[in-house]
Amino acid sequence: MAILQVLYHPDPRLRIKAAPVPVVDDEVRRLAADMMETMYAAPGIGLAATQVNVHRRLLVVDVSETHDQPLCLINPALLQKEGVERMEEGCLSVPGVFEEVERAERIRVRFQDLEGHTVEQDADDLLAVCIQHEMDHLEGKLFLDYLSPLKRSRITKKLTKAQKQVM
Ligand code: NI
Repeated sequence: MAILQVLYHPDPRLRIKAAPVPVVDDEVRRLAADMMETMYAAPGIGLAATQVNVHRRLLVVDVSETHDQPLCLINPALLQKEGVERMEEGCLSVPGVFEEVERAERIRVRFQDLEGHTVEQDADDLLAVCIQHEMDHLEGKLFLDYLSPLKRSRITKKLTKAQKQVM
């Protein structure tokens, strides 16, 4: 396994819409394993392939405190959403920024697992929010897009400046 390089906002590659995963094979399983390792090392609770510059519809999440409930969603589709939840979100691609975002409280999602089987799963609270956040990445969308333009541009300026200092 390997730790992958994560893209940081405002990298334009974070805005690419991901294409479906055509077949769940060893290459996809290896990517998922590397993404898990990258997520745990960060540490984070979710990571979308877009964030590691792979523009395929695949994401990993684990919202457990013990880091032992990994979930990989391939070609995820939202079947149902219900309720409203406001939660403070962060993102490995937007380091150091935490802002409240409104999402559905409960969702039902269909995806393929690492064996290529189609699965339907219900999720609520943090897991539901996390899956919705990661699914947005596959559309080239960031949680910052839900904030006011003024707030977003302030955050973008701050991150751009911070990245210049690192380089
Ligand atoms: Ni994110």
